[in-house]
Amino acid sequence: MTSVRGALLETVGQPVVIADLELIEPRAGEVRVRMLASGVCHSDLHVRDGEWDRPTPIVMGHEGAGIVEVVGAGVTSPRVGELVALSWLIPCGVCRSCRRGHVWACPDSPSYRHVLLDGTAPFGRAGIPVRAYCAISTMAEAVVVPAAAAIPLPDGTDPAVAALIGCCVTTGVGAVLKTAAVPAGASVAVIGLGGVGLSCVMGAVIAGASRIVAIDRVEAKLEAARAVGATDTILAGDDAASTIEALRDLTDGGPDFVFEAIGRTDTAELAIAALPLGGTAVLVGMTPLGARAAFEVYPFVDGSRRILGSNYGFAEPAIDFPRYAAWTLDGRLPVERLIDRRIRLDDVEDAFAAMRRGDYTRQVIEFGP
Ligand SMILES: NC(=O)c1ccc[n+]([C@@H]2O[C@H](COP(=O)([O-])OP(=O)(O)OC[C@H]3O[C@@H](n4cnc5c(N)ncnc54)[C@H](O)[C@@H]3O)[C@@H](O)[C@H]2O)c1
Ligand SMILES: [Zn+2]
Ligand SMILES: [Zn+2]
Repeated sequence: MTSVRGALLETVGQPVVIADLELIEPRAGEVRVRMLASGVCHSDLHVRDGEWDRPTPIVMGHEGAGIVEVVGAGVTSPRVGELVALSWLIPCGVCRSCRRGHVWACPDSPSYRHVLLDGTAPFGRAGIPVRAYCAISTMAEAVVVPAAAAIPLPDGTDPAVAALIGCCVTTGVGAVLKTAAVPAGASVAVIGLGGVGLSCVMGAVIAGASRIVAIDRVEAKLEAARAVGATDTILAGDDAASTIEALRDLTDGGPDFVFEAIGRTDTAELAIAALPLGGTAVLVGMTPLGARAAFEVYPFVDGSRRILGSNYGFAEPAIDFPRYAAWTLDGRLPVERLIDRRIRLDDVEDAFAAMRRGDYTRQVIEFGP
């Protein structure tokens, strides 16, 4: 057993506490990672606020990077000392989605049970098992994860940037390049400019989009979007019709692709309503469970419009993480510009409060001295 501090959610809707936890030693096929950085993603906040049905007690966090400290029996990759980003979805390998190669859509992943492959919870507290969110729980000083979840990144990758590759970058860039396969010259709109939405903007730049319209209700987010390549911005108010009108004016009648990166039904409806003929709405934001949205069917069909759902940017982490990391190193993905607040583990509740207010683009917890 190793002793670590971690961000523990004992009851949904209650504050996360920083607790002393026991961490199991890595067994066959597992590795221990000493965490260097963990992003704070809105998905953590959904869990913390009880909008999704997740078991407790659980250690929070699913967007992180660290150094491999110990490898269990039979592990050939990663190696001790390597910088790894952690993948929050470890495919089961045998379900219908996995058999088709759609690993990002695996419903049987141990990540969704928040335990290791054999069902063991990696943490304990006073003898009570404590689960790890998405089987990686990046908001702890060290974690034990399946080796397949720890993806080595190129030398020189900034650990905070590596952490963001673990969720928001892969989710947003992948939604544009993989899920939607936006062609060069297309017009793109992104609604919601947190880490996920800004990553959609960066993906649209790489795709060669002709116009990238960034939309948020917070002015500072619009500036952040311009800094990573948005060509135009719209400050959204409560009136969806005026947002749509402004969007149509900027994009010759409506953007070819609209990415919803908030997780609200009204903005999902806005994304669909703004589509021109043949346009595609890509839903990336995650609503509370059970939420429903509506759209007018006739013009949707008549105009050959499309709606796509995008989980984890259709990630194949072992291929995509090093590729995205290489793009951060050659300047094509300016991920460091997303990080506007660096905090300590003890500040996690403050970070959640700031996220509710829309205060920062991406907050990163840094570990170590
Ligand atoms: N599909 C996936 O695999 C996946 C992966 C990661 C995160 N997510 C989801 O993506 C969403 C975004 O995550 P994030 O971490 O970037 O969140 P965030 O809170 O950092 O960013 C959300 C942004 O939306 C803006 N916003 C809120 N309400 C708005 C409104 N009515 N109109 C315009 N802008 C508004 C906020 O100001 C903020 O800038 C969350 O729902 C998260 O759970 C999905
Ligand atoms: Zn996330
Ligand atoms: Zn599967």
